[in-house]
Amino acid sequence: MAEERDVYVYLLPELAPPEQLRQAVAVVVDVLRATTSIVHALAAGCTAVLPCAEVDEARTLSGSLPAGRVLLAGERGGLPVPGFDLGNSPRRFTPRACRGLSVVLTTTNGTRALVRCASAARTLVAAFVNYSAVCEQLRHETRPVCIVCAGTEGDVTLEDTLLAGALVDFLYDLGGVRLNDGARLAWDCFDTHGCCLQGALELSQGGRNLKGLGFEEDIQAAAKVDEFALVPELRPGPLRVEVGAVGIAKSYWTK
Ligand code: MLT
Repeated sequence: MAEERDVYVYLLPELAPPEQLRQAVAVVVDVLRATTSIVHALAAGCTAVLPCAEVDEARTLSGSLPAGRVLLAGERGGLPVPGFDLGNSPRRFTPRACRGLSVVLTTTNGTRALVRCASAARTLVAAFVNYSAVCEQLRHETRPVCIVCAGTEGDVTLEDTLLAGALVDFLYDLGGVRLNDGARLAWDCFDTHGCCLQGALELSQGGRNLKGLGFEEDIQAAAKVDEFALVPELRPGPLRVEVGAVGIAKSYWTK
């Protein structure tokens, strides 16, 4: 009998065991908005996104790069950091703003989740906007899969759990998988809310926060399934996210 592949979902980054990550392909999820913004930035032609956990670290890193070749972007409390070039609105990462440039990015939860997954055998960046492209990569993988949700400041989020569940749904259909309880919970979440994605994102705490800050259009942008066919991938030394793969055989979205 063929061996089963483990599929783990961790609803918060700190729940993902480092020794498990080392053997696995990690998939980092922060739908509202870090991973959605990273896909937009790379699709718009930025050369790499350099994730930083802290604001000061981001300032220092961008200061060390050649002037005119780098954009400093990110948020705290959902708002652009004073003195930065961009906030964390996916819609602002346009070709005009970032083609040919590196983007140094720091966000409250998403970039921290990425940094935590740097020790994984391979780390992919997922959002609804590149759902099928991520599925395509996972289809060709044989390693265990660790889906790591960024959450929000230590709380589980509906939108990240929902995307994790959509990925579990895809992996389960491939067959031969063994799920942890986090994966089962996420799958149930997808079963309940996958049919009405934008409504679910609006309902979530993160969605309500963004609405309150006037970023309603970012929620709509994050709910566009398969807008892009690229998969950002984390690379070491210096830690950066680049386009890892492009292309899908078909859409794997089932709702
Ligand atoms: C984060 O990483 O915490 C976020 O993406 C939050 C946001 O963009 O508001």
